[in-house]
Amino acid sequence: MLLRFYRAFSTQKVSFPSLHHTLTGLQFQRTSSDFGASVKPNKLAVIQHLMTERFKGKVVTVTGGARGIGAAIATRLGREGAKVVVFDVNREAGEKRVEMLKAEGVEAIFVHGDVAREPDVARCVSAAVEAFGRLDVLVNNAGIGSPGKPVFEQVLEDWERVIAVNLTGPYLFAKHAAKVMAERGGGVIVNIASTRALQSEPNTEPYSASKGGLLALTHALAVSLAPYRIRVVAVSPGWIDTSEWQLPPRKPQLTRLDHEQHPAGRVGRPEDVAALVAFLASDEAGFITGVNIVIDGGMTIKMLYLDDAVIESAVALLTGDRELAALLRRALAGGDLGRVKEALKAALGA
Ligand code: NAI
Repeated sequence: MLLRFYRAFSTQKVSFPSLHHTLTGLQFQRTSSDFGASVKPNKLAVIQHLMTERFKGKVVTVTGGARGIGAAIATRLGREGAKVVVFDVNREAGEKRVEMLKAEGVEAIFVHGDVAREPDVARCVSAAVEAFGRLDVLVNNAGIGSPGKPVFEQVLEDWERVIAVNLTGPYLFAKHAAKVMAERGGGVIVNIASTRALQSEPNTEPYSASKGGLLALTHALAVSLAPYRIRVVAVSPGWIDTSEWQLPPRKPQLTRLDHEQHPAGRVGRPEDVAALVAFLASDEAGFITGVNIVIDGGMTIKMLYLDDAVIESAVALLTGDRELAALLRRALAGGDLGRVKEALKAALGA
């Protein structure tokens, strides 16, 4: 079978669009000219991996699956054989996403609702069972940010809404989904948290608290649901640029500095998170439960002291002038404050 696929592939009988989709999902982003007849037998292992359908016969619900990271997860799991339920508060986007999934041959339905409303949650779980007969994987992805006001100006309603969507929603969904999973012999719940569960910028109290709570909910559920063969894991993404997964898709507006400040050398993509979720939700991750896995290109392990490299980044960020930033850095490293002064004067036109 594998050999047949390889032969069809090397003579280009396998359609590139579908192959490209699979490749994109797996981060093997190549153009069709990279492949074609030049595929070597030692690439068979890669192809074998691409062909696996880890979710064949399984049913997945992704909350907030209409756009952004949730859409990438729904698409990835669908491409790996899952039947997909997209749940979202945005009806237009949700319906569009399901159309897009169906166009790829993925069996999918849309359920409209708000994760913070228990009747909507119960209706979604029933709809999954009604349409596909079971529910194997729940991805609690829907989330909203904090309004970003200083702490003295924050209002209770904002706090309550963020907690309701980001924490109460996953709790309600887990509760209803786990009941169905338990009746059918098990399942997996993946909670999309954030590195902001672990570290903060100013004025993000509701968001950080909701995501920190989600990590605690993850280990609590993992222990409670273990006897029912249900694994519960959290994924904490760092900066993920979702432009290309919006509706309509947008071009990423990222600078070199945005990418370079990450130890991995780039800002994250929804496909990165989707690949991790696909692994965690699969049987390959059967020994993993209750934990949080950070996926952030190394940002949270980076120790940040104010040194000349940080100053270079700050100057480049503020002035958009990388040459000036590099000059300042070199001057600072050499302890030559005279040259720093000169460079600043030149930049200010003084
Ligand atoms: P997004 O805003 O692009 O997409 C979120 C989706 O959730 C939308 O389709 C929206 O309509 C839906 N949604 C929002 N509130 C809902 C509700 N009450 N009920 C049902 N659906 C609802 O967001 P993005 O960036 O894709 O984020 C997805 C998850 O990943 C969120 O939980 C977010 O906190 C988390 N995250 C995102 C990061 C990023 O850099 N994009 C970083 C870390 C975590």
